Amino acid sequence: MSEAASDARARAPRPEPKPGILDIHAYVPGKAAADGVADPIKLSANENILGSSPLAREAYAGAAFDLHVYPDSRANLLRAAISETYRLEPERLIFGCGSDEVFQLLNQTFLEPGDNMVQGEYAFAAFAIGARACQAEVRNAREPNYRIDVDEILKVVDDRTRLVFLANPGNPTGTWIPFSEVERLHARLPPSVVLVLDGAYSEFATEPGFDDGIDLARRSENVVVTKTFSKLHGLAALRVGWGYAPTRIAEAVDRIRLPFNLSIPAQRAAIAGLADRDFQDRSIAHVDQWRPWLAQQFGGLGLEVVGPSATNFVLIGFPTTPGRTAADADAFLSARGLLTRRVLNYGLPNHLRVTIGLEAHNRAVVEALAAFLKS
Ligand SMILES: Cc1ncc(COP(=O)(O)O)c(C=O)c1O
Repeated sequence: MSEAASDARARAPRPEPKPGILDIHAYVPGKAAADGVADPIKLSANENILGSSPLAREAYAGAAFDLHVYPDSRANLLRAAISETYRLEPERLIFGCGSDEVFQLLNQTFLEPGDNMVQGEYAFAAFAIGARACQAEVRNAREPNYRIDVDEILKVVDDRTRLVFLANPGNPTGTWIPFSEVERLHARLPPSVVLVLDGAYSEFATEPGFDDGIDLARRSENVVVTKTFSKLHGLAALRVGWGYAPTRIAEAVDRIRLPFNLSIPAQRAAIAGLADRDFQDRSIAHVDQWRPWLAQQFGGLGLEVVGPSATNFVLIGFPTTPGRTAADADAFLSARGLLTRRVLNYGLPNHLRVTIGLEAHNRAVVEALAAFLKS
């Protein structure tokens, strides 16, 4: 190409993403590999360390002969199973490719440029990605002590607020707020604001005083509760999430979702997983057993333990002393095949998030951190 032609090409108009898109930080997943380590232990994505229900795996495998057909666009069998299990009106359910897609759909349904979405400062990253893609403003409410504070949320809500996202318990903090606080928030929000209660980890929150908000959603016009099959049911690979919404919201969302957003293997495995109470009980019992142990051990090493956690992970804080930082600890653990999660992108450069593992994993993390802190 001549110089003139190449100049002209550089000056020619080209497709530009709409304003704001390039300011979005893409989602950073938990790492799954470490250099030079053959079989690392992945404690970086809050997956279910017990795997998944054998019944779900069987249902998934059984779908192998139906790969040529489109799935049921309304996921009617899964819809019926969920509505029966939770006693919910089937027409009020929204399905998504993970609860991530449900958040995305809610953002798209409600946010215009100039509107805002309110969340806690350490909120799960997917909420804001979707809101920014709609050219809305994201307002972060302070979380003193790594905990959602209803008054801080109310302070930043204004007449352009359309959505409030609240993960309870939260990720990456693992902390939770009592239902009385959720009710207080709901009572003070303008009725035109949608309150999204993300219950991705709600089944692991076994403390009295916790509630996932389904009953609040049942009787409200502006509350959506979301759940996922990725955590308790161990089906993260299949991407199944759902929301329970007022009928008007469910109907609006249904107009814009992709028609076949849940695959047949995903729908069938989710139905089977939902029926496997034994697997769910074992998963909850495992977390109940190891969460306090890990918190106590990390605390005993002199690390800051954020919490108490009501999830299947624990967030720990490190000193800023060179050689003892979260980045150093992460590198030390990775080199030993123990993959945890740095949470810099959440504004927490001095913390690591550790998924609760099997007994051997948990002991290995504690031993490695003890060695790290002594090294
Ligand atoms: C707080 C929170 N909400 C939602 C999700 C998304 O889950 P899903 O796999 O259903 O998209 C996660 C996943 O890590 C999460 O931590």
